[in-house]
Amino acid sequence: MDAVAKGFHKVYGEPGAGVWAAPGRVNLIGEHTDYNEGYVLPFALPRRTYVAAGRTGGAPRWQVWSAQMDQTVEFGPEDLRPGGLTGWAGYVAGVVWALREAGYDVPGARLAVDSDVPVGAGLSSSAALECAVLTALVDLGGLDLPVPSRPALAQRAENGFVGVPSGIMDQSAAILCQAEHALFLDCRTGQAEQVPLDLAGAGLAVLVIDTRAPHRLADGEYAARRTTCERAAAALGVTALRDLEPARLPAALAALPDDLSRRRVRHVVTENQRVRETVARLRSGDARGIGPLLSASHASLRDDYQVTVPELDVAAEVAEQAGAFGARMTGGGFGGCVIALVGDGAVDSVAAAVTEAFAARGFAAPAWFVATPGPGATRLR
Ligand code: GLA
Repeated sequence: MDAVAKGFHKVYGEPGAGVWAAPGRVNLIGEHTDYNEGYVLPFALPRRTYVAAGRTGGAPRWQVWSAQMDQTVEFGPEDLRPGGLTGWAGYVAGVVWALREAGYDVPGARLAVDSDVPVGAGLSSSAALECAVLTALVDLGGLDLPVPSRPALAQRAENGFVGVPSGIMDQSAAILCQAEHALFLDCRTGQAEQVPLDLAGAGLAVLVIDTRAPHRLADGEYAARRTTCERAAAALGVTALRDLEPARLPAALAALPDDLSRRRVRHVVTENQRVRETVARLRSGDARGIGPLLSASHASLRDDYQVTVPELDVAAEVAEQAGAFGARMTGGGFGGCVIALVGDGAVDSVAAAVTEAFAARGFAAPAWFVATPGPGATRLR
């Protein structure tokens, strides 16, 4: 927070009006369910993207400096068309664009951005940036945008301006999560429930292992998964795969013409069920009992949804062999992170076992940290 405030002062020669922040996330369970109008259960990381900002007068223009890139980008209304700005500044301009498209009078502003959310690790650094900027601009302009409506607006920036066809999970996590809770979100209705997640109290920790595996084919593959799901839903006569209850799965699978869509549908239907079961176990105080559900989710993402890579599979498998109660990839897949539910005394040994296994296979050394559920987007000063 101090660094970004100082950065603002240095770049623009005056202090900003305030500092805002939004977090990265891990998803505990519920993967590739959001765009199928199903359930997700993310929690916010204590790692955040910080934005210092101040209004400018005159015709609206925007200047944004990034500490990571040590670069300033300036844009005006003429740049606000989908794809009009690319790279990191596209996420910022996308938010201004989405606000204006929704009819908001966005004030001209200067912004400084700093972040400790790892980029490209599948921890939603882009949603953190979008949501930190959105929260800052809403406050600066006194815009009447209720908190529950903000995730969809930030998602619009990503879908419509940046051009990534993501679902609503990441922006919802960045905006709606609360410290010490996971967010049980119904992605169709937007209904959100805060589920207490007292891992330390249960003698547990969530170990996040960043495999550092390069994203391969990720964009096209993600869009392809979406399309397959949408076509399967249409073929089965439902609005979205969310509408298939587990009891209907055998009949649905029998009705589908090809193996690929059968696999995708089986993943989505069983994953939605695992989310509900995870929430039930957490509510009943059985945090350790969610371990097998995490592992089943990974197997389904590996075998049926086919979005893992060898690094993700090895990390999940070795973590379990080393004593984790369950482990799974988190986020979109094709690289990124694995989360492992471990006893709080086993963090180092599980991380060491995965590091060793990666070295033995010639993979890049993984990074790791322990994740505790932090707060969602907020003004800090
Ligand atoms: C990415 C997307 C999310 C979600 C996950 C998979 O993180 O941005 O909307 O679809 O993949 O669960």
